[in-house]
Amino acid sequence: MSLHEKMEQAKSFIEEKLAGKKPTIGLILGSGLGVLGDEIEDATAIPYSDIPGFPTSTVAGHKGQLVIGSLEGKTVVAMQGRFHFYEGYPMELVTLPVRVMKAIGVEKLIVTNAAGGINESFKAGDLMLIRDHINQFGTNPLIGPNDDALGVRFPDMSQAYSKELFSLAKDVATENGVHVQEGVYVGTTGPSYETPAEVRMLRVLGGDAVGMSTVPEVVIARHSDIDVLGISCISNMAAGILDQPLTHDEVMETTEQVKADFLKLVKAIVHRM
Ligand code: HPA
Repeated sequence: MSLHEKMEQAKSFIEEKLAGKKPTIGLILGSGLGVLGDEIEDATAIPYSDIPGFPTSTVAGHKGQLVIGSLEGKTVVAMQGRFHFYEGYPMELVTLPVRVMKAIGVEKLIVTNAAGGINESFKAGDLMLIRDHINQFGTNPLIGPNDDALGVRFPDMSQAYSKELFSLAKDVATENGVHVQEGVYVGTTGPSYETPAEVRMLRVLGGDAVGMSTVPEVVIARHSDIDVLGISCISNMAAGILDQPLTHDEVMETTEQVKADFLKLVKAIVHRM
């Protein structure tokens, strides 16, 4: 089945459940950040396992469903849990939800993640607005034949993260008294965390935070002409900065602590979008 057919199949299945709801804002909620999906009103929740063509999400801290409803007066579609390349899914499946979001009407995407802080002025618990990214996956989700109906062969990435949405997010953060950092997100395959030497390398390359997601989704969003805002929750300092090992438990504990600020910020941004 072609990608286009897969999109159409998922689209029809989802739209049948929506009773006319038409989301224009998409949210991808990262590790520990899925709680935002619980704030959506008049919600229709659709488990990924029910959607034709979708894989089942496996990683701890991820629920694995689409939630469609109303947030701050806007109709949104949120992914509670995402598909990671390290789970073994091909890039086409990792990014299929973004294709499907586009198909059901999404024009703007807020993509969130938990990430390790590379920038030594950051601390665990900070929120970082993503100004740009570096693709360290060693591959690209657009490799393969291009479907011209979906986007151009060589998409521009000079404004991968919308300047307008970035500055809106900064203003909203200031107005709401939420402290935010800004920086460059480096996307790696994982699932092993980086070595201290790799973290030093990524710092030299210009990275401020590192994580195992987001980059493929943003490439597909840009191919689909969706405007993107990215927000990282700095769940830990990257390897070698502090004299302590990294664990997924630490990532989950920190995201739990910043939950309140994260919710306040994203809701206020959605309100103004
Ligand atoms: N490295 C990569 N991915 C991550 C990290 C990290 O330190 N923290 C959360 N996701």
